[in-house]
This record gives sequence, C-alpha cells and structure tokens, in this order.
Amino acid sequence: MTTTSPGKASGVGGEATIQASPEDYWQRYWQHQAAESLGSAAQVQVQRTWQGRPITDAEFRPIVDWILDQLRPGLDDVVLDLCCGNGAITHHLARRSARVLGVDFAQDLLRHVDREGHPNIELQQGDIRRCEFPADSFDRILLYAGLQYLTQGETVLLMRRLRDWLRPGGRVLIGDVPDADRMWDFFDSVSRRAAHFEQLVAGEPIIGTWFAPQWLAHLARDSGFATAEVLLQPKTLPYAHFRFELLLS
Ligand SMILES: C[S@@+](CC[C@H](N)C(=O)[O-])C[C@H]1O[C@@H](n2cnc3c(N)ncnc32)[C@H](O)[C@@H]1O
Repeated sequence: MTTTSPGKASGVGGEATIQASPEDYWQRYWQHQAAESLGSAAQVQVQRTWQGRPITDAEFRPIVDWILDQLRPGLDDVVLDLCCGNGAITHHLARRSARVLGVDFAQDLLRHVDREGHPNIELQQGDIRRCEFPADSFDRILLYAGLQYLTQGETVLLMRRLRDWLRPGGRVLIGDVPDADRMWDFFDSVSRRAAHFEQLVAGEPIIGTWFAPQWLAHLARDSGFATAEVLLQPKTLPYAHFRFELLLS
C-alpha cells in the first residue's frame, strides 16, 4: 500500500471544504482492489477476510443482524449507505426500507450491487468526502467499514454533513471503526507490529486511521448530534477485538 493523501480543510471562519486529490491513495487502492477482485467471492471484494480467508456467510449474517438491530430502518425510511462497496449490506437495508442510496468511489464494486433484485436501490459513484445532499434527506445513514479511509480532519467535516443530512428522529451508524485504544490487540505480535511500523515508514498504512471512541463521540456531540453512543461489537463478531461502532441520533 502507499500513503493516504491528506485532505486539506480550508476557510478559516468560513465554509471548510476538503480538497483531496481525485488521485489520492485510498481511491487508487480501492480502484485497484475492485478491479483485481472482479471474479472473487463477495467478501473478498470488500476485503472482509480473517486470517487469510474470506469470512463465511455464517460469520457475515450476525454482522448484518447487528447492524440492522442498531440502525432499525423502517419500511418508509430513506437510507443512505456510504462506502456501500458491492452492496453486501445495502441489499439487506433495501429489504427493510423504502429506498436506499449507496455511494462508493469504486465503480467496479458498484457493478456488483444487485439492483434488479432490489429496485429500490440507487447508486452514486462518488467520494463521501465530497458528495452533497440537501438538509434532512435521510432517515437512516450507515457508514460501515469505511471511516478508516478518512483522515481525522476529513472526519470532522463529514460528521457535520451527516448531522445536516439526517432527518429529525433519524439514526446514524458509523460501524467497524478501528479502535485506537485497542490497536495492540490487532498488532498483537512482534512480527505484526514490525509490519505495522515498516508500512508506516513506507507511507503504506495497514488499516488507515484508528479512532479513539471518545474522540469520535465528542466530535459527534459537538457537531450537533443529541446522542452519541459508543458500542462494542458482540464478542462473537470476527473483528470485535479491535473495532467499535458509534450510534448517533
Ligand atoms: C471495506 S469496504 C466496505 C464496504 C461495505 N460498507 C461493506 O461493509 O460491505 C470499504 C469501501 O469503502 C469505499 N471507500 C473508501 N473510501 C471512500 C471514499 N472516500 N468515498 C467513497 N467510497 C470510499 C471503498 O471503495 C470500499 O468499497
């Protein structure tokens, strides 16, 4: 992997915008990954693997159930699925809501989203750091396994926009966030730590940005969310030892 190009926040006292290059690292990384994995199993396409193998349907189902239990979409709801990838979760949201808009910058992953089976899915190829929607557009917003590809500065700006896009009474789930407080439960051996450090030297971070749960919760509350609840994943989920969720309303 090569490095993340830091987005620039500009506009002191005015409207801040992210000016990440369209050629930045994670975009190149995911375009490459999507093209390389075209014929692969769905979980490989979005790199949902553990110890070198894709997670199984039996391991994925509890993840989907957990997400739906937290987000609780209603049949009349309009849902935004940011970083939707190949639609592995989008399909489940579509069965339980009126309409889902999936956004992702990897066109080769969006191609796998089954819109014929789920005609209430709309797709937008785009960068979540730059897409815009009118205020009060969505009842539910999901960002799952995607926050790590943003810098902290980009996250600050996204959080404000999430607050703006959410309808009163709505919910946001930011899920599968790498937990900075438990980073060493992931890099849990000398060899894994060595790889981590070397990848940093090379400008090629293994995971992306790690977030302290309280940092993210403070940001959400200071961005105008009434509640920001840090949730630990059930221990039975494959990444529970180093990832967490943030549920916002
Ligand atoms: C690990 S996959 C997760 C996909 C899906 N949310 C899931 O859980 O099955 C991460 C996805 O984030 C997308 N992504 C990363 N950064 C993005 C950005 N700034 N804008 C849009 N998509 C992005 C990648 O293309 C990839 O599809």
